[in-house]
Amino acid sequence: MNIVLMGCPGAGKGTQSAKLQQKFDLQHISTGEVLRKEIASGSELGKQIAGIINNGNLVPDEMIASMLENKVKNTEKGIIFDGFPRTVAQARVLDEMMKRLGRDLTHVVMIDLPEGEVINRICSRRQCKKCGAILHVDIKAPLANCPVCEGELYTRADDTPQSAKHRLEVYHRDTLPVKNYYLNSGKYVEVKGDQTPEQVFEDIVKVLEKVK
Ligand code: AP5
Ligand code: MG
Repeated sequence: MNIVLMGCPGAGKGTQSAKLQQKFDLQHISTGEVLRKEIASGSELGKQIAGIINNGNLVPDEMIASMLENKVKNTEKGIIFDGFPRTVAQARVLDEMMKRLGRDLTHVVMIDLPEGEVINRICSRRQCKKCGAILHVDIKAPLANCPVCEGELYTRADDTPQSAKHRLEVYHRDTLPVKNYYLNSGKYVEVKGDQTPEQVFEDIVKVLEKVK
């Protein structure tokens, strides 16, 4: 099973990836996380990347492609691609890469979230430095520590209302065309994102079983 998980900023891609990874023993590849790790390393490349993603813009396609190939090569597990492809050019790169590596994309799952929910979800998100848990907090009384492992919580540098608004515009301009790229592939399915995380997960599992 090799899945592309699509959806606007805050749709729940990271939340659902964690659940899918656990249920089906998949390798989770989040291009956003790969980029944030590069920033955290303090490298020159990381500094360049921070300047791009903190403003809500996309990192160039070539940079993403070169970061991904090794990750795909280094696992024999099925893969969840979270936040990739984000442009039609990246979708083509993925097709070529999978073919070259003798693998098949089996599902493209779109988590469909009404736009009105996006800013609230993004601005109420905290992530755990230790276990990586993604949490929704009450922004009037935010938690300091992770309820799962007590680790320190942080707010992503691109989780500001301004950046979230711009990410949504970029999503419409560059990423929604990827939906059309997959629409008639026989692999594309949609689930409703404005349900509880458990209901969204149940729907995803159902559609994964439908498209085989
Ligand atoms: P990325 O990290 O991929 O960010 P994104 O696509 O904007 O999506 P998010 O991670 O913000 O949201 P999510 O869908 O994962 O939602 P989550 O589960 O966290 O990319 C960041 C940046 O990196 C990009 O802007 C770009 O600059 C760059 N980048 C990344 N990939 C790239 C690529 N391929 N090419 C070029 N550039 C790239 O949930 C959000 C919140 O909602 C959480 O608080 C969560 O607890 C809550 N929540 C989740 N599900 C539910 C639910 N069902 N009900 C209520 N709350 C929920
Ligand atoms: Mg995410």
